[in-house]
Amino acid sequence: MADKLEQVYINFQKELGAIKDLKSLQDFEVKYLGRKGELTKILRGISELSAEEKKLIGEKANNLKNEMAGIIAAKKSEFQAEKYSGLAQSEKIDVTVPYSRRVGHIHPISKIRIELEQLFRSMGFMVLDGPQLESDWYNFEALNIPEHHPARDMQDTFYLADNAEWVLRTHTSPVQVRAMQKYGAPLRAIVPGRAFRNEATDASHEHTFYQIEGLMIDKDISIANLVAVMKELLSGIFQRDIEVRLRPGYFPFVEPGFELDIKCLICAGKGCSVCKHNGWVELLPCGLVHPNVLKYGGIDPKKWTGFAFGLGLDRLVMMRYGIDDIRYFHSGDLRFLEQF
Ligand code: FA5
Repeated sequence: MADKLEQVYINFQKELGAIKDLKSLQDFEVKYLGRKGELTKILRGISELSAEEKKLIGEKANNLKNEMAGIIAAKKSEFQAEKYSGLAQSEKIDVTVPYSRRVGHIHPISKIRIELEQLFRSMGFMVLDGPQLESDWYNFEALNIPEHHPARDMQDTFYLADNAEWVLRTHTSPVQVRAMQKYGAPLRAIVPGRAFRNEATDASHEHTFYQIEGLMIDKDISIANLVAVMKELLSGIFQRDIEVRLRPGYFPFVEPGFELDIKCLICAGKGCSVCKHNGWVELLPCGLVHPNVLKYGGIDPKKWTGFAFGLGLDRLVMMRYGIDDIRYFHSGDLRFLEQF
């Protein structure tokens, strides 16, 4: 029987080398130590031995059983440690890997709008908003442009198909009268926002573009005040001397009216598709508020005067960054947007 025990142990050691995972270790344990296992079979036969042999073989068999159980337990812990360390490896997070998710940023038009809002706030102007779907009355009538007036043709308008009383506002000027009605005089406000025109688009014309309306109403406002504020605006944005020209311009809601153009910064005045080959870019129409408009706004033109301007924001941004086509702004092309 001692030989049998010896043989079981030799087989146990031989097979142990081939056990590579927890599952086969379990089968191995059952084979040697289970109720019907190799060692148990031998132990069952002990009862037939003499008392002396019983003691000797019993002790040997128990020692062997304990040794085999110990070896199996050690192997089990080894496999379990491997299993969990493998899991930990695959779940490991390296916090030093550079963070590469792409983060967006402010659109160049918004960037300049925010700069201008800060500049005008510092001069005591409110920043107002107004509806993009506007009544014909605020968009035209209240700006001294009655129905059938030829000035309506200057702005190619999107009317609502089923109700011509409503338009997509063609400019930010309707907020002039809205602001006068709400706040009265004196008044200083700018109105950044979208405008819409049924344009054939080209390098300097979009169907959807941005303007910033400006309005100042007070006692004795003159063209000198207008020019001073325009200068502040341009030097704030360009931070350098740029060439401007003021020429007469016709807008029924100002009298007198001007066009303030800047020398094209794309071609340095030589002529290109942005300035329509004449070297100047129309940027900032302006003038003194027409008395009829003050009246529509509920302000007495005998007591108060004012100036207004309507800055073309897209074109200003084009000049500031040297962008040669307005259509890039709404293209959604990341190669363009990521440059800012
Ligand atoms: C107006 O819209 C007047 N409301 C401006 C005004 C306000 C005059 C207050 C006097 C007093 P105009 O149509 O010229 O004017 O447009 C103003 C500016 O908006 C232009 O100088 C130009 O810079 C910009 N603009 C006009 N149409 C477009 C367009 N289709 N695409 C891009 N910019 C445009």
